[in-house]
Formats: sequence, C-alpha cells, structure tokens
Amino acid sequence: MANLRMFLVFELLMLISTEVWCYQYKVGDLDAWGIPSSANSEVYAKWSKYHNIKIGDSLLFLYPPSQDSVIQVTEESYKSCNLKDPILYMNNGNSLFNITSYGEFYFTSGVAGHCEKKQKLHISVLGGNGTATATAPSYSPTALPEFAPSYPTVFGTIPVSPSSSSSPTLPFPTLVLGFIIVSALQL
Ligand SMILES: *[C@@H]1O[C@H](CO)[C@@H](O)[C@H](O)[C@H]1NC(C)=O
Ligand SMILES: *[C@@H]1O[C@H](CO)[C@@H](O)[C@H](O)[C@H]1NC(C)=O
Repeated sequence: MANLRMFLVFELLMLISTEVWCYQYKVGDLDAWGIPSSANSEVYAKWSKYHNIKIGDSLLFLYPPSQDSVIQVTEESYKSCNLKDPILYMNNGNSLFNITSYGEFYFTSGVAGHCEKKQKLHISVLGGNGTATATAPSYSPTALPEFAPSYPTVFGTIPVSPSSSSSPTLPFPTLVLGFIIVSALQL
C-alpha cells in the first residue's frame, strides 16, 4: 500500500508539474516586474526557462504603475530594445497577458532604459501540430485508463460528484486530480 500511495503522490506531482490546467504565472515569481538586481540580472531569462507556458495560461506582471509598464514587442524590437510601436501596451501595474496561441512572445518595459538593463522576457509557447487549435491540455486524460486495470479497487471507488461533472467551469484534469487526492487519502 505504501508503494501505491507513493505512486499516487508521484502521479500527483507529475500532474502538477505538467500543469494540465490553466495557470496564472507571476512573471519572475518573487521578484516583481522591474529592472533585475545586479545579483540576479538573468532573472527573466531563467524564469522563462523553467516555466512551461501553455495556451490558456496567463502571465501576470506586477509593478508600481507610476514607475513601470509592460509592452509586448516583436523579436526585432526585443533584441534591439526598440520601444516604438509595441504590439500591446499595459501600464495598470497588474497586467494580465493571456496566452491564446502558440508562438514566441516578447515583452519588455515601456520605460526607456529598462530593456537595456535586462527587464525583458521571451516566452515560447510550444505545442504539437494538429492540436494547435484545441484548447484541451496536451496531457491527455487517457493516460489514466492505461494503468487503471492494475488498481481496480483504487479507481473503482472513485466517488463521482454530479455537481462537479456538470460544472462547465471545472476542467477534466481537475477532476482527475481530485480523484487522485481522494484515492490517496483513502489508503
Ligand atoms: C486577460 O484576461 C483577463 C480576464 O479575462 C482580462 O481582465 C485581461 O484584460 C486580459 N488581458 C489582455 C491583455 O487582454
Ligand atoms: C505547425 O505547422 C505549421 C505549418 O504547417 C508551422 O508553420 C508551424 O510552425 C507549426 N507549429 C508548431 C507549433 O510546430
């Protein structure tokens, strides 16, 4: 049983790490959107490297609105720190950028001089072709039945909540996650 529980916890972590549901990312995590400190000048480059942003996710930029802003720019403008004619300009201090398509996204500050000081973010939203228009998560719930026959008692006792299954706001992966938590608690 201990092994099974560890397996379920592992599966839970896998689900979390693969970010199957839409997620709001605070850009830079603990550091708010701003000029990186000299001790951590690569904060945004590192941040984007360790986050797997998907369609449906959003990026939250937090900053003092009187001092900063966020602009989405082209790759060329990102490289050359050209602040003219941004694709999108946001300056309310609490800017949410919603990822609605695959591709490369480039951001920097709209304040002159900040881009040069590495306040810039490049995000790659990748995905397999063929599912490009689907909003469904790439981590398919069909992975579950694959190992279900090995543990019929675990998945046979899953309580199905009618209110949850009929709720359009609750994505399927959340239900799967709920089942796993319930199952783990029952062991
Ligand atoms: C992203 O979505 C949120 C909530 O739906 C909305 O308030 C915000 O304006 C959107 N951001 C952009 C840049 O469209
Ligand atoms: C999908 O295929 C198109 C061309 O068929 C290509 O331009 C595009 O870059 C591909 N997207 C991904 C995410 O591979």
